[in-house]
Amino acid sequence: MRMVDLIEKKVNCEELSSGEIHFIVDGFVNGEIPDYQMSALLMAIVLNDMNEREAADLTLSMMRSGDTVDLSDLPGVKVDKHSSGGVGDTTTLVVAPLVAACGGTVAKMSGRGLAFSGGTIDKLESIPGVNIAQPIERFKEIVRKTGVCVIGQTGNLVPADKKMYALRDVTGTVQSVPLIAASIMSKKLAAGADAIVLDVKVGSGAFMKTVDDAKRLAELMVKMGKLLKREVVAVVTDMNQPLGLSVGNALEFREAVQLLAGKVPEGDALYEVCMLLGTQMLLLSNLAESDEQARSMLKRAVDSGAGLDKLRAMIHELGGDESLLTLAGMDSLCAVKRLVPVLAKEGGFVIGMQAELIGRAAQVLGAGRATKEDAIDPAVGLVMHKRVGDRIEQNEAICTLYVNDETNLDDAIQTMLEAVEIGKRPETITPMVYAVVR
Ligand code: URA
Ligand code: CA
Repeated sequence: MRMVDLIEKKVNCEELSSGEIHFIVDGFVNGEIPDYQMSALLMAIVLNDMNEREAADLTLSMMRSGDTVDLSDLPGVKVDKHSSGGVGDTTTLVVAPLVAACGGTVAKMSGRGLAFSGGTIDKLESIPGVNIAQPIERFKEIVRKTGVCVIGQTGNLVPADKKMYALRDVTGTVQSVPLIAASIMSKKLAAGADAIVLDVKVGSGAFMKTVDDAKRLAELMVKMGKLLKREVVAVVTDMNQPLGLSVGNALEFREAVQLLAGKVPEGDALYEVCMLLGTQMLLLSNLAESDEQARSMLKRAVDSGAGLDKLRAMIHELGGDESLLTLAGMDSLCAVKRLVPVLAKEGGFVIGMQAELIGRAAQVLGAGRATKEDAIDPAVGLVMHKRVGDRIEQNEAICTLYVNDETNLDDAIQTMLEAVEIGKRPETITPMVYAVVR
């Protein structure tokens, strides 16, 4: 078999066999297939798609490229969650500890930022001392002790995704339903949880731009879960504006702490999506019998501070300085050289946002990577002051940029002005939840 022939097959919209897909994944992981050939194939998949059978084979080949984790010796239903990636999507840092505070067992492996979207691992590393690279035994020990642990993918868990993810991030090959499904599900299946809640984002700040694509991704992933006998629920939620107000690593961590400290009101988008995901996790864990019961358990875990205590305990176990997880401590982690407001050129209503551009504005300030080797500045990014539907005056601040390196400051300001659309009349607001797929 020659890789060049398989690339041409995909270029000609032909189907790849199980054996061919296995050859590709295997060859790429052990270095026989170079990055440039893999990039070409990935691009052909982005453009010409894969069918369900190919996507399932890709998922399984990727999952089997490395170790899989056995969590069966931990008590209870092990529940995991995963977002398909968005902007200001800080749900894991809120939901994982909340579910643990309600008696759940949350064992989760997270990823880094990809393209314009943030990653939980990058956010965790904004806390000094945190080591996200823990051996599996230590990971399980932390789960046993605190009920919750979120780490990076360990050394040899789905090495195929590690390599493909990094390559896709910088070759414009993220946006593909089968590639995203295989990437997410290979990791989720390898990580060993019994039950998985998937948050499929749709909109201007998501990889899926249409509700149809998002539903297709959700259904494909639920099917793959069934194939390997896991309980999977997928929700399709809105990403037509940043979910939280903060975009950037320490900034998003701060917002998660604020929420867990009871400072974010019910009805807020981040709060509500966290409640939705937490509810599904508690239901799959058999810890609640109804949506209403689950929600009131989660709300109690916010009000009592039990959720925040769980997050502190987890950060402590990961080697981080948990004393920083206070409102003042988080402010200190978000200290930067300059705060720069971006002012509206005209008054009216915020009628739409291109959330992907908002993600990019935070990135060019240093919150994300432009190449695989780039370092991240945890403190930089931006905080939005407006949501879609809000009234805005001329010269009122749309957002505040958190800046250390000013090299790309003008670029970030222009990007923000382009990202936030202002009109004379308010638009109807898009729903927060589009579908729940079981
Ligand atoms: N999240 C993932 O884990 N993989 C993707 O490909 C996209 C989002
Ligand atoms: Ca950079």
